[in-house]
Amino acid sequence: EPDRDLEGLRVLISAGGTREPLDPVRFIGNRSSGKQGVALAEAAVARGAEVTFVGAHLEIEPPRGATIHSVETAEELRVEMIALLPEADLVIMAAAVADYRPRTVSEGKIKKDVTGDVLTLELVKNPDILAELAASKAEHQVVVGFAAETARTQEELLSLGRAKVARKRCDYLVLNTVGWTEGFATDGNTIMVLDRDGHRVIEAEGTKLSVAHSILTAVSTRTPSEIAV
Ligand code: PMT
Repeated sequence: EPDRDLEGLRVLISAGGTREPLDPVRFIGNRSSGKQGVALAEAAVARGAEVTFVGAHLEIEPPRGATIHSVETAEELRVEMIALLPEADLVIMAAAVADYRPRTVSEGKIKKDVTGDVLTLELVKNPDILAELAASKAEHQVVVGFAAETARTQEELLSLGRAKVARKRCDYLVLNTVGWTEGFATDGNTIMVLDRDGHRVIEAEGTKLSVAHSILTAVSTRTPSEIAV
């Protein structure tokens, strides 16, 4: 692990899973624990970076040495990230953001004597925060997204990742496989980093902390334009 090689770099990291309320007692959520994002923040702090961390429902302690912000929903995360973007050199979206939210949020608890045997929820699309950050960033800023896919092969993962980086237009995309037993809440991870043209930059496997160090090295030591094709 390089020693304090990120001194002076301002890093903004999102982590955890957003929750979209249905009523005062229920939400639509996902299984992100925040471990990968916390590991990225702790790795960046250890290497001397100035880290701002935006957490959504962490199942673990927030990262030490970082400035912490907490959010609930995708919209709250969006507002926070856009406000913090100007103060960052490197932005990493490790949070698992709900793609949809309930169209309406009930003022009172939804009651099954009213809704009956089948309850149909109407969901509307959330804004794509990563795409928005990538589109509004300044030239010197580097925006990194994640792709959580249920791909069964490396080829499938790679092609899903290439399509996603082309759609979101971020500088780098970290691909990982998720499933019932993979990705979420585990202590280890297997990742591949693509640049904005879909070229493979690095692959890494290990604890979420060791993977975090590999990601930081990949996205901070080379600017996107310097990467060999
Ligand atoms: O937290 P852990 O338990 O450690 O698990 C780690 C992880 C699997 C959650 C993490 O490694 C990971 O993959 N995070 C991204 C999860 C995700 O939302 O992936 P996605 O493929 O659905 O989204 C692609 C990218 O767009 C992500 O950077 C996401 O933050 C972003 N996004 C997605 C939807 C949306 N509306 N706005 C976004 O910005």
